[in-house]
Parts: sequence; structure tokens; C-alpha cells
Amino acid sequence: MVSLLVLTLAAGLSAHAKGDPCAEISGKKWVSPREVRACFTSFPVEPLVKANIIEVLNKTLAFHTSVNYQIQAPEPFARDVHEDLHTDLARINNQNYSSDFELHVDLFRTFKRVNDGHCAYINYCYDASYITYLPTPLVLLTNIDGSQSVHIAPEAFNVSSTEFGSEVEFWQQALPRQLKGKLSSLSGARVLLIDGNDPFSAVNANALTTGSYQSFGTRQNSFFSSYSRTTAGWNYTMGNFAQRTWPDADNVTLTLQLENSTEAQTILLPYRSRISASTNHFTNSSTYRGRNCVAVKRTNGYDEYAEDEADFVSDEPSPIARAQQQPLLDRVDARKHHLDVLLDSMPLSDVALPTGLRPPLAAVNGSSGVSQFYMMKDNSTGVLVLGSFSSSSFSGLQKSLLRGLLELRGAGASRLIVDVTNNGGGYICIAHWLHRIIIGPKPTTEPQAGLDSTARAGPLARRIVKEIKNGADPREKLLYNPAQWTNGTHHRFKKRANWMSKAEHHVINGHEDSFSQRLGQECQPFDVPPPNEALFHSKDVVIVSNGRCASSCSLFSITMSKLEGVRTVVVGGKRDVPQQYCGTVGGQSTDFSTIDTEIKTAKLKNHPLAPPDFLTNSVQGITWRLGFGIDDPTQPEEWQDHAADFNLPLTKETVNNPVAIWKEVIHTAWPEPSFFVQGL
Ligand SMILES: *[C@@H]1O[C@H](CO)[C@@H](O)[C@H](O)[C@H]1NC(C)=O
Ligand SMILES: *[C@@H]1O[C@H](CO)[C@@H](O)[C@H](O)[C@H]1NC(C)=O
Ligand SMILES: *[C@@H]1O[C@H](CO)[C@@H](O)[C@H](O)[C@H]1NC(C)=O
Ligand SMILES: *[C@@H]1O[C@H](CO)[C@@H](O)[C@H](O)[C@H]1NC(C)=O
Ligand SMILES: *[C@@H]1O[C@H](CO)[C@@H](O)[C@H](O)[C@H]1NC(C)=O
Ligand SMILES: *[C@@H]1O[C@H](CO)[C@@H](O)[C@H](O)[C@H]1NC(C)=O
Ligand SMILES: *[C@@H]1O[C@H](CO)[C@@H](O)[C@H](O)[C@H]1NC(C)=O
Ligand SMILES: *[C@@H]1O[C@H](CO)[C@@H](O)[C@H](O)[C@H]1NC(C)=O
Ligand SMILES: *[C@@H]1O[C@H](CO)[C@@H](O)[C@H](O)[C@H]1NC(C)=O
Ligand SMILES: *[C@@H]1O[C@H](CO)[C@@H](O)[C@H](O)[C@H]1NC(C)=O
Repeated sequence: MVSLLVLTLAAGLSAHAKGDPCAEISGKKWVSPREVRACFTSFPVEPLVKANIIEVLNKTLAFHTSVNYQIQAPEPFARDVHEDLHTDLARINNQNYSSDFELHVDLFRTFKRVNDGHCAYINYCYDASYITYLPTPLVLLTNIDGSQSVHIAPEAFNVSSTEFGSEVEFWQQALPRQLKGKLSSLSGARVLLIDGNDPFSAVNANALTTGSYQSFGTRQNSFFSSYSRTTAGWNYTMGNFAQRTWPDADNVTLTLQLENSTEAQTILLPYRSRISASTNHFTNSSTYRGRNCVAVKRTNGYDEYAEDEADFVSDEPSPIARAQQQPLLDRVDARKHHLDVLLDSMPLSDVALPTGLRPPLAAVNGSSGVSQFYMMKDNSTGVLVLGSFSSSSFSGLQKSLLRGLLELRGAGASRLIVDVTNNGGGYICIAHWLHRIIIGPKPTTEPQAGLDSTARAGPLARRIVKEIKNGADPREKLLYNPAQWTNGTHHRFKKRANWMSKAEHHVINGHEDSFSQRLGQECQPFDVPPPNEALFHSKDVVIVSNGRCASSCSLFSITMSKLEGVRTVVVGGKRDVPQQYCGTVGGQSTDFSTIDTEIKTAKLKNHPLAPPDFLTNSVQGITWRLGFGIDDPTQPEEWQDHAADFNLPLTKETVNNPVAIWKEVIHTAWPEPSFFVQGL
């Protein structure tokens, strides 16, 4: 599945000649990827808009902690992270593009190459405005002899017929004669070749562009389908093979061996593009651009003390919410409690997990939204499924976690599985809270249950802190206000302290850089009193995921694993590729609009280093604070090793089936004492 941008260009030009290619797709729910490309590629590069995007991105990078580290990461990520974003932007600045879409693809992929889920550039004009699907999500299965093979997911037809409704008929009719109308017979089939090559050449090509996780293994796994726990229920993540951010592929040729068959057959399956619910109605190119591609109310920041502030602080969610891998947050909570959360161009999921795969166990009291508790049939293993470290209510999630764990204990659970599959992070202080309540009070949980951190101290950041010292933020609303932070020994800074005055200077990959003094924890004391003792012994806890555990989920898993010795399990993954139990650590994430609010409130928008407002419907994510390491405390945790203790192979029986996976985890993590061992 090579990128089809060359073809794209031709399609765009020919469609343009015929008429308005966006008018052609107006009002249609499903269209072919080629038709969407014709619309996207009909917009020429506007030099002023291009210059604006590059200037915003380039200047906002000054607030991203990791720019210089990402020029060359150390082992074990030396081969995964080696991108110089400033050099890339200079290249893009000097390059010509045949369309605005082609320019966007380059910008987007360039940011993806840092393999950091916080550092992203998204433009809603193109990203997931149409999502492009196949009805055949894939899984990687391990056979009895230990060999591995790629398969169409056993639940593929169930998922696609439920989600795509009558559009499934399009694919039914697209199948070759002997299979016409028999899409269901493809479920479970072994995939011998994708576009004539070993399936792993497509898996690995995708791993180079999907981004978000440092580890190659985790990015391979993004190709395949998985489950996720969301606020409203159990959802299904199609994976990058069956769900694409852009209409950049027309079809795929699969060589398959159907279940119970010995022969190979080759079929061509077309991709189909579906307009997203968040894409605004349009009638032609000019209304598509006007309603989907230009900056909206909260694309840019605002002055917190300006009279028309009320205009901005509406209940309308910020555009970044569409890209954050977490539920929609309450505005007050989102302001009060800081976040560390993954950004992705693709919605986490909009598909339901088939009923047959959802846990048939009754959820234990305390379960609420993204946090669900179950007691396994052995009556001694409790399970906490945590789909996100955020929920609409901070205190609601905090209380649900305590209540659920206490209920499991009360019901006799002596061991705990924490399943954080596809958990993209959320509230930093919920990560600290969960670590503290499971492990109990100890020097590793009080007062700091997370990682100490540091913010980048560039000239404009230091200037904002200085303006706050001079009275720019009397109501203590800004990120750079010292009121909410503590120093390296966890003492609150004094009001209006210039906490960036003693910046630390480092040379990173040959570049001079400056960071704030070490920051301590900001979460404790908690509003809810934590229990006085551990709820579970660390040896009785295991953390399970598909490796896609990021941001606050990483803060939690890393402190549990490296400080408490809690064991970690990654399910799935290629056998000979190391599996990491988390990625994209950060410390705190933020975005351009938040930084812009800091700048505007400090009355520094005219500063030569201040980024201008975005003209486009864009979002830029960054890491604002970077956590210090545990094994090597002098270096960021971000690029240190997070190797899983166990790698659990998936089979036809366990794949995408949470309860079946937890049963395997029990056997793996707590094997029954064996009589053979006594003889040794
Ligand atoms: C980006 O900013 C740096 C200064 O940080 C400047 O030297 C460089 O020219 C800028 N690059 C572009 C493409 O504007
Ligand atoms: C880009 O286009 C401009 C104007 O047509 C031209 O002068 C310039 O040489 C081109 N640059 C590249 C790198 O092709
Ligand atoms: C499949 O996609 C390729 C590449 O876009 C295209 O050339 C070809 O015509 C497509 N085949 C069919 C049958 O749609
Ligand atoms: C394959 O054979 C097994 C065992 O006979 C049966 O349970 C299964 O439904 C068959 N699968 C298909 C796709 O026919
Ligand atoms: C596009 O559609 C809008 C509203 O439907 C209409 O007012 C406008 O004239 C159209 N523009 C072109 C170029 O057709
Ligand atoms: C989960 O799936 C349901 C059913 O398809 C859907 O309505 C909901 O939006 C999905 N939730 C998320 C967070 O994707
Ligand atoms: C999907 O599977 C469930 C059982 O797991 C079944 O109840 C449901 O009818 C199936 N749906 C479709 C569309 O096949
Ligand atoms: C769960 O809570 C409800 C309402 O608080 C209560 O009626 C019920 O008995 C509780 N169930 C268990 C198993 O504790
Ligand atoms: C677990 O508890 C339930 C309800 O008390 C009981 O029916 C069941 O036999 C127990 N299972 C085991 C394995 O002890
Ligand atoms: C933090 O502040 C306290 C109180 O002002 C001070 O005693 C302590 O030395 C400071 N710690 C560091 C690491 O600067």
C-alpha cells in the first residue's frame, strides 16, 4: 500500500477540469477515496497560508521540551527517533507542492516521524474529515507451534456489518464471482500476501508513518484491531489497515486462505470513504474550505483578562478535543486539572465491540464509564479496566477507582489485573492517585507518586514568567503562574516567584538548550483521603495492555513497574520484536492554543518570538513538561526502556476477547505451583 499521491495529482487535475470536485461529493455519506482526493487536491497552495502554518509550528516548537532530544534519541530508541523538526520545516518552506493537501501530508508525516504522541500537527480540513475503511480489520495470531500469521479478524464481518450497515453491500458486490455476497466467509481467513508481498511489509511500512509511539513493536501493533473501554461502553479499534486518516488508498489485493480451505485465492477489496460526523456540511469547494478549513473560535488563544473573554470561554469544546484520546472533559475540570494525553488524527474508535466479545461478567460496584471492575470466576482475581485517565468528572473518576478497588477487596480479591489497553492518558493526578491507592503510603507514593519534571525555558517562556511576576496574571490562571507548581523538594513556589530565573543549561545533541529548575509534585494532598494501607501487594498486581498506553497511562505504569516491581504484560505483537508496555511519557502535554493564551494574557503577542494566530483549522500538540527518569534520573524518562515482563501471544480464541485474555494473564503471571519444580 504505497502512498498514492502521484496518482492523486492526476485525479485532482482531471476532476477539476470536469467541474467542482467537492460539489460531486457534497451530501453523500459514502464515496470513493478517489473522489475525496479530487476534492482535497483541488486546493492550490496559498503562499500566505503556507507561511503562516510554518511560522506557527516553528515558533510553538520553542515550548516543546523534546525538540533537541528528538534529533537523536538514545538506545533503545536510537533507530526510532531521529528527526530534526526545525530542519524539516526549513525544507518544507523551500519546497513546492502541487496542492495544499500534498503540503499537509508532508507536514503531518514530518511531525509523526518524531514518534511522540504529544507532538503532532493536525489540520481538520483533511485529517479524518473523511475516514477511509475496509470491512476486514486484521489481527496477528500465534499458532500452536509458535509460528505467527496475519488473519482477517474472526469478528470482522460482525463488526463491519453492524457498523457500516447497508454499505456492506458495496463490498459484497465487489468480491469476485465465487465469493460475491459472501463477505462473511472472509472472517478468520489467513492473509498470505498483501498487495503481492509478505503481510509484514505492509505492517512495517505503516509502522514508519503511524507515529505516536517510540517503539517499533507498538507501531507495528497499530496496524491490527484491538478493543477499548470508553465512557459509553466497549468499543472496537479497527487498526490502521482497515481505517485510514486520509483517502490515500483505493484498494488492496489480498491473497487469502479461507478458514477450512487449503487453497489460496486472491481478491481485490476497494476502500470506501465515509464523511465524519464532525465535518461541516458543504455544497462546493468554496463552502468546503470556508466551513472546514479555516480557523474556528478556539483554534487560537485569547487574553484571559480581555473584556470579550466570555465570547471565547463558551461551552463549545476546544477543537483539540476531537484529537485527544480521552472522553470530552468538563470545562472547569479541564482547566483545574492538568493533562498528559495522546493526540491522534484518528478518532480512538467509533465502532462497538461485538456483544460476544464483551465481558459477560457483571461489573462490580464502583464501575463507572471508563473504569470498570470485574471479579474473575476464581474469586481471587479482580480486574480494573481503565480505558482513560480522564472522564468528564475528575472527582467522579477518582472516587470510582477507590470504590471499585475496595469492592474487589471486600469480595475477596487478593490479586489485581489492571487492563490499560488503548489508554491514551488523561489527568496527571489520577495517575498519581491510582498508584498511591493501590500501593499505599510509602516514600515512592508520598508526596510524589509520579515523576519530577521540567519545562523548557526559552526566552519567550522566561519572559511570560517575568510578566506574571510583574502582575500580568492576578487571578492565577496561567500555566506559567508559579502558584500551582512546587520546587524539587515539593515546596509550593511563592506567589509571583520567578521560577525560571535559575534556568539549567544543557547541550543536547549538539544544541544549547535551557530548562526550568526541577519541579516536584502538584497533586497531593488529594481532595479525597486515600486509604492508610496498600489495597494490593505489588507482587499481586499486573498491568496489561497492547502497548498502546501513553502519557498519564505511562506515568502510572512506569512508576508501578520501576518503583514498585509490578509486572507488565503486553498482548500480541511480533514474536521477535521487543514489546514495550507504554510509550509517549511526557510529563504534561499541551497545545498551541494554550500557549497562545499564555502569550496573549502576558501581553506578549507582539514579541518577535510569539507565533501568529493560525489561519487554518489546525491543532499543534506539544510536550510542555518532561518527566525525569527513574533508572537514569539525570535523563528524561521518555526515551528510557519500558520492556514488558511478559509477551502474551494471541490466538483465535483470545484475540480481542478481554475475559479470555485475562484468564491467560492469570496463568502467565501466577502459574500454579508445579510438582516438577519440587524435584529441582
Ligand atoms: C524557525 O525558527 C528558528 C529559530 O528558532 C529560525 O532560525 C528558523 O529560520 C525558523 N525556520 C523557519 C522555516 O521559519
Ligand atoms: C518553486 O516554485 C517557484 C516559482 O514557480 C520557483 O521559482 C522555484 O524554483 C521552485 N522551487 C523548487 C524547489 O522547485
Ligand atoms: C486499484 O487501485 C489502483 C491504484 O489506485 C488503481 O490503479 C486501480 O485501477 C484500482 N483497481 C480497481 C479495480 O479499482
Ligand atoms: C471451519 O470449521 C470449523 C470446524 O468444523 C467450524 O466450526 C467453522 O465454523 C468453520 N469455519 C467456516 C468459516 O466455515
Ligand atoms: C457554493 O455554494 C454556496 C452555497 O451553497 C453558493 O452561495 C456559492 O455561490 C457556491 N460557489 C460556487 C463557486 O459555486
Ligand atoms: C463506541 O461505539 C459506539 C457504538 O458504535 C459509538 O456510538 C461511540 O461513539 C463509540 N465511542 C467512542 C469513544 O468511540
Ligand atoms: C454479532 O455477534 C453477536 C454475538 O456475538 C450476535 O448477537 C450479533 O447478531 C452479530 N451481529 C451480526 C450483524 O452478525
Ligand atoms: C451495589 O450497590 C447497590 C446500590 O448502592 C446495592 O444495592 C448493591 O447491593 C451493591 N452490590 C454489591 C454486590 O455490593
Ligand atoms: C466463587 O463465588 C461464587 C459465589 O459466592 C461461588 O458460587 C463459586 O463457586 C465460587 N467459585 C470458586 C472457584 O470458588
Ligand atoms: C524549595 O523551597 C523551599 C522553601 O522555600 C526551600 O527550603 C528548598 O530549599 C527549595 N528546594 C529546592 C530544591 O530549591
